[in-house]
Amino acid sequence: MSIQWFPGHMAAARKQAAEQMENTDVVIEVLDARLPQASSNPMVEELRKFRNKPCLKVLNKTDLADPAATAAWAAWYDAQEGVSAYPVTTKNPSEVARIPQLCKALAPHRGVPTKPLRIMIMGIPNVGKSTLMNALLKKRVAKVGDEPAVTKSQQKLYLDQFTVLVDTPGMLWPKIAMESDGMMLAASHAVGTNAVIEEEVAEFLGAFLLERYPQLLSARYGFKTEGMDGFGVIEGVAQRRAYRVRGGDYDYEKAAHTLLLDYRSGALGRISLETPQSRGEALERHRVAMEEKARIAAEKAAKKAEEAARGKRGT
Ligand code: G4P
Repeated sequence: MSIQWFPGHMAAARKQAAEQMENTDVVIEVLDARLPQASSNPMVEELRKFRNKPCLKVLNKTDLADPAATAAWAAWYDAQEGVSAYPVTTKNPSEVARIPQLCKALAPHRGVPTKPLRIMIMGIPNVGKSTLMNALLKKRVAKVGDEPAVTKSQQKLYLDQFTVLVDTPGMLWPKIAMESDGMMLAASHAVGTNAVIEEEVAEFLGAFLLERYPQLLSARYGFKTEGMDGFGVIEGVAQRRAYRVRGGDYDYEKAAHTLLLDYRSGALGRISLETPQSRGEALERHRVAMEEKARIAAEKAAKKAEEAARGKRGT
């Protein structure tokens, strides 16, 4: 299954962001701490590097993420030039209050009345941009909702006389390169539920949890995980919760939904879907698969050319 999502307003958002980048001093990229790189839009890096702008990577929703993975990600981002990481729960105002200071440190030449610090907030839908803005401005300025892409139009707001905030609409990219990224985003609800088959996503999540957090599954649902596969987790939830459809069969759809909701709400525990290490391994697997795909395509093309040449010669 391949997840593609690029509504028209996201193409417009890219153009708007590219223009806005020129008049920005610091980019805040809001990421989901549970899947930082999968929830990062490569376009943000591309646009900000082109203009050489520093970036505060806000690793949000740390209340839901595995603390060890979050610490590893913070170190990973901090090692990059012009980048600072800030793990945070934007629902906690005192943690958010430090953000302007961190931005100022990235652009020390700005932040005086004649040269206010201009901050652009970027990030894919549902990572918590509106929640962050509301907390920074100490009031409700944007519609906050769980459905992706609620923040639609760009806004410009003064934090104080020295600091201006500009947020941009949520953006996804034209092509999600790795299938596992699509799955992680769907599991975390950054990609709308209509766009993907929920059961398939739940099966992916089930298999991942079996590998990385089997004890959390056992603790929540009370089953033993030995010998299980991703679908077995859904089956187990359906059995334990006695979810049945009319006619008596287990209701796997409902069980899949329960598993996803329990992950999203944190009821299952603090779970991260990727670490810098697992990301590196996934990228390497992807690279090898792409090389193999290119090799097969080249072989096919060569064979076709040979057949065509033979046809011409009549041999
Ligand atoms: P966006 O602008 O980037 O699209 O994201 P938005 O702020 O609308 O946040 C998306 C959802 O994520 C909201 O959930 C919001 O409450 C939740 N959220 C934001 N920051 C955090 C955080 O630090 N921790 C947790 N656990 N959740 C966070 P919602 O269910 O739509 O809203 P609500 O019922 O929580 O108000």
